[in-house]
Amino acid sequence: MAKRLFIKTYGCQMNVYDSARMADVLRPLGYESVSSPEGADLVILNTCHIREKAAEKVYSELGRLQPLKRTKEAQGAERMLIAVGGCVAQAEGDEIVARAPHVDMVFGPQTYHRLPEMVARATRAAGAVLDVAFPVEAKFDHLPAVGAPQGASAFLSIQEGCDRFCTFCVVPYTRGAEYSRDADSIAAEARRLVESGAREITLLGQNVNAWHGRGSDGRGWRLGRLIRHLADIDGLQRIRYTTSHPRDLDDELIAAHGEVEKLMPYLHLPVQSGSDRILAAMNRQHGVDDFRRSVDKLRVARPDIALSSDFIVGFPGETDADFTATLRLVSDVTFAGAYSFKFSPRPGTPAAAMEDRVPESVKEARLETLQQLLGAQEAAFHRSKGGTVMPVLFEKRGRRPGQIVGRSPWMQAVVVEASERLLGEIVECRISRIGAHSLHGQLESAGLAAPGQRVCA
Ligand code: SAH
Ligand code: SF4
Ligand code: F3S
Repeated sequence: MAKRLFIKTYGCQMNVYDSARMADVLRPLGYESVSSPEGADLVILNTCHIREKAAEKVYSELGRLQPLKRTKEAQGAERMLIAVGGCVAQAEGDEIVARAPHVDMVFGPQTYHRLPEMVARATRAAGAVLDVAFPVEAKFDHLPAVGAPQGASAFLSIQEGCDRFCTFCVVPYTRGAEYSRDADSIAAEARRLVESGAREITLLGQNVNAWHGRGSDGRGWRLGRLIRHLADIDGLQRIRYTTSHPRDLDDELIAAHGEVEKLMPYLHLPVQSGSDRILAAMNRQHGVDDFRRSVDKLRVARPDIALSSDFIVGFPGETDADFTATLRLVSDVTFAGAYSFKFSPRPGTPAAAMEDRVPESVKEARLETLQQLLGAQEAAFHRSKGGTVMPVLFEKRGRRPGQIVGRSPWMQAVVVEASERLLGEIVECRISRIGAHSLHGQLESAGLAAPGQRVCA
């Protein structure tokens, strides 16, 4: 009988990718994914350590799982194994074992290819199995072939870890040193994804544009070259990559934005702050003007490119003048979307030990001011697409019957009334209405609507 596997994913897209690969690893052992933890044979929490709130969620979820585990035991059924994977596991493995004795396995982002062996050990043993090493063997060489993607859009991890050591960030500690996969193994995975239905691939890495791997000609390639190579795959229609560091945006990559049709005109480029002083304290290794210059170059190469970014407010020592500089940068550059956060001191990072902490109330006020500005820019960006025609990749059914939802080249959700036969297809749509969270449109070619169906949303 099939065993039930429930995976809950927190954090970034890399964790989403990893969760799918964990399911790939466990499938040969008879595990099938289910959508709720009740009665599951194996529950995996794939965790995120980036901010305090993210990490705390793990312990409350573990609390909720305990009675489920007991119920299953009381029914005389086989034991529910509970596993904690991902970045909290890597950072706080011992603490998890101490705080939550009902946890059976703890493993980091670099060891999930060893899950079969961990499951076997946990099934036999009473105590928790802990595997948070940074193994010498590369995880990607030990994973089975990638399973079918969930829909028309798929993630593909090409780079992991980070050597940049921004002073606020846990990633270099939880994910370890930077590692780039070879172009051939990436291309093979991309081809497999396309064969099983993917039309769009998002290349992933904590610092994805630092990718520098062995090319298929045996030479060292950088990301721009890799993207050109992947663009040759028939059937692959859209390429994206995330998350980038401004320092690693080289001219070859900028040129690819201008020349590779399949590379989508939307780039997430976190800048964190608009103050040179704060950028230096964050060890971002670039200044505000460098960022402005990169943006200018990108816009020359690809005039319709839209940018999104990440910001941290209330970094230790951030003054009103520093914050005003951030607002100025945002006003000048204009972003189509952004994430912004209050600085969260993370154990073990240099910034956690920095003095001159910004009071919580000041952080709150700055976050609100910044989010209002960014929110207005995002709304203006959506409005600018009203009345235009754009290619939409349809990915899923909409909330209402008869609706399907897709993505614009700029990552906007586009809702259209049309046949489900268009799922997985890219179709030209005219935007007729701008909603709060999505654009509404109609198929530009009326012949594509289902018979008897009203085309207009
Ligand atoms: N690799 C990406 C960022 C990964 S973390 C980069 O280099 O930009 C995603 C975002 O979380 C960061 O861009 C940052 O804005 C935010 N973040 C990371 N650590 C944080 C912390 N200690 N406090 C608040 N926000 C943080
Ligand atoms: Fe973290 Fe990104 Fe800085 Fe790396 S580059 S340390 S992942 S914020
Ligand atoms: Fe979180 Fe780890 Fe991603 S800390 S943001 S899940 S790399």
